[in-house]
Amino acid sequence: MTRPRGGLPSLGGAMTKLRVGLLFGGRSAEHEVSLASASSIHKALDPARYEVSLIAVDRDGRWRLGSPELPPEATVDGREVSLSAVPGANALVATGASGLETAGELDVIFPIVHGRGGEDGTLQGLLELAGIPYVGSGVLGSAVQMDKDTAKRLLRDAELPVLPWENVRAHELARDPEGTAERALSAIGLPLFVKPANQGSSVGIHKVTSADALLPALRDAARYDVKILCEQGIDAREIEVALLGRDPIEASVPGEIRTGHDFYDYEAKYVDEDTELLVPAPLEPEQTERARELAVRAMAALEGEGLGRADFLLDRDTGDFWINEVNSLPGFTEMSMYPRLWEATGLPYPALLDRLIELAFDRHRDRTTLETVYRRS
Ligand SMILES: Nc1ncnc2c1ncn2[C@@H]1O[C@H](COP(=O)(O)OP(=O)(O)O)[C@@H](O)[C@H]1O
Ligand SMILES: [Mg+2]
Repeated sequence: MTRPRGGLPSLGGAMTKLRVGLLFGGRSAEHEVSLASASSIHKALDPARYEVSLIAVDRDGRWRLGSPELPPEATVDGREVSLSAVPGANALVATGASGLETAGELDVIFPIVHGRGGEDGTLQGLLELAGIPYVGSGVLGSAVQMDKDTAKRLLRDAELPVLPWENVRAHELARDPEGTAERALSAIGLPLFVKPANQGSSVGIHKVTSADALLPALRDAARYDVKILCEQGIDAREIEVALLGRDPIEASVPGEIRTGHDFYDYEAKYVDEDTELLVPAPLEPEQTERARELAVRAMAALEGEGLGRADFLLDRDTGDFWINEVNSLPGFTEMSMYPRLWEATGLPYPALLDRLIELAFDRHRDRTTLETVYRRS
């Protein structure tokens, strides 16, 4: 297959469609969110261009292949398959009556698995070993965007604004609970936010406004990760910018989230109907420019590729922008902030999907043309 720069691979023959494996589900708390994203993507992928295979990662981590006539929700009951680890085979394999057999072939994978085992670099590692092009950030970019502590260090290193934080390790919390809480409190002060380092969807996050509440919050966060951040809390507006591309990375118009909750917690994200998404965000032109510029620099600092969503806290008192995080796999239903921001920037949902798939081939081509053995130049 030849892969012209900046385009989709030439498939030889006008009628040949690109075979896309839409991978969704997963073992995280965000299984349902992923399913909703996959349904939206499935509906929007142009059937004249793409032949889509639905692949659900079930609650046990097994891959299940759907069938074209069934909706994404039914895919979890499909035939068990796995991805061949033979580089370039691009094949799904299954156990048949006479041993392993090919269950399908793919040109590219569109992973839409949120959380651990999906956007933390582990799935990307598997796809990298299989040598198949895939949408989004690679192993390193995914891993550092997932780890709030490592991400903040890299952002700080790039001289980007991040709020002060202090790490707490689960083992020191178990050994000396009071002392550990005191150390975090004297380093950061109140109010502070307690966050498991590798989570999403606000799971395990607590706003702490009294010294007494810190230890229970740390203990709860320790249920989700062995590393916990205690971060300075501010009164802030929540501004988000959608990102697309590799080099250059492009930024959308900013959007704003407004919720009646104390902060943007799990219920505000997925349960409450009254959480508002303002697109575009009501900002001054120079604030808009500032947010977009910081967003691009943040994604680059975190080795992000393809897509990302930079989330900011805009300090209500000082007017400062703080980068809260960059999500390598933002929510992707038609109603989610990421596609809505692109829509408002002039890129409709189906065209956004085309672009993301194109970028997957770009990235793959750049990597596969690298030398793998030393050659005297
Ligand atoms: N330092 C902070 N100050 C004020 N609010 C915060 C702070 N950190 C997090 N929040 C609130 O908590 C929410 C979830 O935190 P975040 O770090 O984005 O975790 P997640 O990865 O689960 O989305 C944010 O959207 C925001 O509402
Ligand atoms: Mg967040």
